[in-house]
Amino acid sequence: MSEIEKLKEEFKIKIDKAQNSKEVDIIRSKIFSKNGFINSEFKKLGTLSPDDRKKAASEINNAKEDLLKLFNDKAESLLEVEIDEQVKKEKDDVTLPEQEFKIGKIHPVSQVIDEISSIFSEIGFSVEEGPDVESEYYNFSALNTPENHPAKDMHDTFYIEENKKTLLRTHTSPVQIRTMLKGKPPFKIIAPGRTYRSDSDQTHTPMFHQLEGLHVDKNITMGHLKGCLNYFIKEFFELEKIKMRFRPSHFPFTEPSAEVDIGYRIEKNKIVIGEGDKWLEILGCGMVHPNVLKNSKINPSKFQGFAFGIGIDRLAMLKYGINDLRSFFECDYRWLNYYGFDPLDVPTNYRGLSK
Ligand code: PHE
Repeated sequence: MSEIEKLKEEFKIKIDKAQNSKEVDIIRSKIFSKNGFINSEFKKLGTLSPDDRKKAASEINNAKEDLLKLFNDKAESLLEVEIDEQVKKEKDDVTLPEQEFKIGKIHPVSQVIDEISSIFSEIGFSVEEGPDVESEYYNFSALNTPENHPAKDMHDTFYIEENKKTLLRTHTSPVQIRTMLKGKPPFKIIAPGRTYRSDSDQTHTPMFHQLEGLHVDKNITMGHLKGCLNYFIKEFFELEKIKMRFRPSHFPFTEPSAEVDIGYRIEKNKIVIGEGDKWLEILGCGMVHPNVLKNSKINPSKFQGFAFGIGIDRLAMLKYGINDLRSFFECDYRWLNYYGFDPLDVPTNYRGLSK
């Protein structure tokens, strides 16, 4: 074996043994740098006879090619090893138990919607939904709201199109129409959801939540409405007795119409619900107007119904002693941590709603 070949074999072993790209680089410079193996062999050529020179030159060129190929292969396999190692280091084992388990909280509005749904489902109401972006027809006209009604005013309603045909629903009442149009009576539904009005202060936000109730059947009377709401209020506030009054009111879609107040008093700066000589309005209700039934393809001489609309956020504020409505929608994690609920405690009537 010639001197060149011997040296080449030695380098081969060294390359083979190299552990990482740094070591490979060191060997590479020993071979290919200005004063490295290949160049110093070429320099020696001048001292050789023409025949020997030819032979040696081709040997050097072969060695150069062989070594280059070895370097390329080595670099490729090292890269694979290095990637494998990195992947191993970075891999998270998702089957391992959580070290720092931080549980989220249920927002009081979601909690109250669950509580109310649970109460009404116990007495046979099912849950319906309608879209937030609603047509003028379902939100107003079908609900017997006259063309010049103040609620339709630009100051109150968020219109989406200039022709005022599409809007953000101002209440959940359009779900009454949608529900009746898609089925046949009897109906016994609640419909929770977001509603929108151009209004903002301590007790009003541009987006708020309502829960609609509708019961349509034969021989439904105002007595059923009172009984139903009385039952609901007592269950919701988890009280045996609660002071409650129906105050005459007006809505275009109910006749007669009423607003319901509950009694309360303030004790040591805290509100006590159900007794006392102060009154707080919590919902609007009434007997479904015959025109609304007609618009929903129901014969008002055969069927009657009652409807109600509850302000969910206000109920949440009352029950859980939260005094600024705006804080509901500020997405402050500390607030939610304080007022929120355990997600694993789903409210049910028999276990207690909020305990
Ligand atoms: N939609 C009415 C409101 O937003 C509430 C209501 C619903 C009144 C159903 C009567 C019947 O104020």
